[in-house]
Amino acid sequence: MGKSFVIALDGPAASGKGTLAQLLAREYDLAYLDTGSLYRGVAYALLAAGKDPADEEAAAEAAANFSLDQIEGADIRTREVGAAASKVAAMPRVRKALLDFQRRFAANPPGGKRGAVLDGRDIGTVVCPDADLKFFVVASPEVRARRRFLELKAQKPDLTEADVYQDLAERDARDAARADAPMAQAADAELLDTTRLTIEAAFAAARRVVDGVFRRCEG
Ligand code: DC
Repeated sequence: MGKSFVIALDGPAASGKGTLAQLLAREYDLAYLDTGSLYRGVAYALLAAGKDPADEEAAAEAAANFSLDQIEGADIRTREVGAAASKVAAMPRVRKALLDFQRRFAANPPGGKRGAVLDGRDIGTVVCPDADLKFFVVASPEVRARRRFLELKAQKPDLTEADVYQDLAERDARDAARADAPMAQAADAELLDTTRLTIEAAFAAARRVVDGVFRRCEG
């Protein structure tokens, strides 16, 4: 089997990268890994065990013992888990423990797929610097807060858009400022601004880039 074809999507929370990554994986028959779910999984395990997400020893242990089936069916998309995930993601020991899993997934995609799509914060810069294609997906803070608010408000009727805006601002600041693998656009990543795009339009724009790379690979 040839080398795995890897597409990396990075960017801030609620920029649309997860939805795009899933659509691209389906379109090109590639495996998909939401790497944020790994950090959320570690945070969830800590919170469920009554531990402090700021406890580096406990977080490193949870990351070392982490497996995807631990979060099967668990509600890892809550505000609390998101905030705790951003904290454990700043810990070098947690990142190191999760790095191998992500690289193995990219190099040997499950299900015999010819490649993989990974979305996160450091995929193009640290996890898969040699990815065949990289996107950095952004959107204005107001639009991202609106999107995340609409996702969360069904489970949390008392939540306000201002709360979500504040959560995202704190998370973005922490994710971009940490010393180890901060969120950053790789020099060779395509910038995709989804502020004024529907998901269909963003997907069409991403597909044009992917098709161009496929044509170059095959030509
Ligand atoms: O994409 P998300 O909101 O599910 O990610 C949850 C947290 O995990 C986010 O605040 C930052 C962290 N994360 C990371 O540091 N590196 C990644 N590759 C993916 C997520």
